[in-house]
Amino acid sequence: MKLRYFSHSAFQITTDDGQRILIDPFLDGNPTSPVKAADVEADFILLTHGHGDHLGDTLSIATRCNSLCICENELANYIVSKGVRAHNMHIGGSHEFGFGRVKLTQALHGSTTPDSECHGSATGILLYIQNRIIYHMGDTGLFSDLKLIGEMNRVNLMLAPIGDNFTMGIEDAVKACEFVKPDMVIPIHYNTFPVIETDPALFKQKVEQQGGSCQVLAYGQEITL
Ligand code: NI
Ligand code: MN
Repeated sequence: MKLRYFSHSAFQITTDDGQRILIDPFLDGNPTSPVKAADVEADFILLTHGHGDHLGDTLSIATRCNSLCICENELANYIVSKGVRAHNMHIGGSHEFGFGRVKLTQALHGSTTPDSECHGSATGILLYIQNRIIYHMGDTGLFSDLKLIGEMNRVNLMLAPIGDNFTMGIEDAVKACEFVKPDMVIPIHYNTFPVIETDPALFKQKVEQQGGSCQVLAYGQEITL
């Protein structure tokens, strides 16, 4: 499968059989995204929470592409109220979809939508696709149950926020890697705005110092998993 990074927390996964999955598609309002909402196609849109920098352009993309949105229950109800298809889940639950299995994890964060109409729970997302496990942490602070997630899942790729202020900073994200033990970590949620500016090279250095592996992706870069 292919994984493309649009900056911030936004990714596109394309499976070998051509299914297109967007995660947290914050594109038009994102000063660092190399693509606009009108440029992307999605069969599925996975959301970690309702904040504007994650919900992003979900409604316009899902309306145009008839995408199925997959997220936590309250946010799913909100999305359906806007006329878009959604599959309701909640933390701890998993479900098999056409492309693979999705499990929602806890995340220490809020989830209010930009219009304050929805106040659900923020989540992380475990993705089981083509014998790989990808863990998108969403927005979260550090929590010790990450050890349990690592114990129960051989995580091949972890997408970890490092920008501080709203989420983990570098030091806590390095500790998260120690807890989960992913084969590889990609830093996310940094340098989009001045308040979350940080140095991903420093994060990479610290991860490697403790024996881990880290890849810093350029905006728009695509890798094969
Ligand atoms: Ni957030
Ligand atoms: Mn955020």
